[in-house]
Amino acid sequence: MQTRIEVGILGATGMVGQHFVKFLQGNPWFDLKWVGASDRSAGKKYRDAMTWHLGGGAPDSVADLTVEDCKPGNAPRLLFSAMDASVATEIERAFAQAGHVVVSNSRNHRMESDVPLLVPEINSEHLKIIPMQQRARGWKGQIVTNPNCSTIVLTMGLAPLKQFGITKVIATTLQAISGAGYPGVASMDITGNVIPFIGGEEEKMQQETQKIMGEFRGDRIEPLPAKVSAHCNRVPVVDGHTVTVSVELSAKPAMAELHAAFDSYTSVPQARQLPSAPPRPVIYMHEANRPQPRKDAERERGMAAFVGRLRPCPVLDYKFVALGHNTVRGAAGAAVLNAELMHSEGMLD
Ligand SMILES: NC(=O)c1ccc[n+]([C@@H]2O[C@H](COP(=O)([O-])OP(=O)(O)OC[C@H]3O[C@@H](n4cnc5c(N)ncnc54)[C@H](OP(=O)(O)O)[C@@H]3O)[C@@H](O)[C@H]2O)c1
Repeated sequence: MQTRIEVGILGATGMVGQHFVKFLQGNPWFDLKWVGASDRSAGKKYRDAMTWHLGGGAPDSVADLTVEDCKPGNAPRLLFSAMDASVATEIERAFAQAGHVVVSNSRNHRMESDVPLLVPEINSEHLKIIPMQQRARGWKGQIVTNPNCSTIVLTMGLAPLKQFGITKVIATTLQAISGAGYPGVASMDITGNVIPFIGGEEEKMQQETQKIMGEFRGDRIEPLPAKVSAHCNRVPVVDGHTVTVSVELSAKPAMAELHAAFDSYTSVPQARQLPSAPPRPVIYMHEANRPQPRKDAERERGMAAFVGRLRPCPVLDYKFVALGHNTVRGAAGAAVLNAELMHSEGMLD
């Protein structure tokens, strides 16, 4: 049997860190051997350093690990990062400087021009910017990021339509409370309510979508020249971000062409059979009232985007609904798939 690659998690005790611990269980390529967090947790057993918020409990093999300081030293070369954003910039850079491959879920480096904002189904080519990152920063390591949890749902829904020339997008989110981490939004604020503001989220969705769907031009990533307008709302749903999308397409395709594009969509992770890749990354649901977060977000191990309700839009050209699991495909699962893509490219050798 092939030896698994030892991996670690920066920020392993937090909410996203726990999702990494859970998602990495049973991964055939990666073996979780190292957990790091703040000096409040360092030196403690993982089981004593955190309160487990997910179903099923922390696996014993991880619960028995001693939490380390997030300083380069004895960590494995490949590190997933779920660090608090207030400290992620410097700590991730320090690990890249020390030669580590940092596959980060934090927002800090996403929009830097030499850092891939990677969705393996959409822009695997963007990994080609890494040698430029290494030259410009003078480090042997690398930093690769995954998008914000609502952006990933939007971009996976839009990806099959890119061939028709996306020129305008209006996206409205209905975002789950788990996206705010733990303890997140106060129960008194969100129960039976909608909060029409998530700080910084609309800007992130707009800019990240353009970068993700942009083209690698040999020495830079050129953003998709489409106008993107996002409205972000927190709703009383536990897991699963829903996004309603209106889109303008320059090729003016017929609706049947859009259906065919959704139904046939497949990409690099599927061709390479990466372990965490969903067999079909975008699943079109024909029922009039789907997708729904409670019924669909967990399907396909939380790694696919579900799309439905495609119809003409009287303002732009077409409109549809997209749904994805925000803490799996929008966080830990996205980063693990990124690392699998990098391994399949020989970047972890
Ligand atoms: N929550 C989500 O659904 C979600 C979704 C997408 C992206 N994100 C992003 O993912 C990151 C983590 O979010 P989260 O909700 O998991 O946060 P969290 O629960 O507050 O966890 C933060 C983690 O960072 C560690 N940390 C804090 N200060 C540190 C320091 N000075 N040195 C080393 N480690 C330190 C914490 O360790 P201690 O336990 O020792 O304090 C903990 O492990 C954030 O950047 C967030 O924006 C979150």
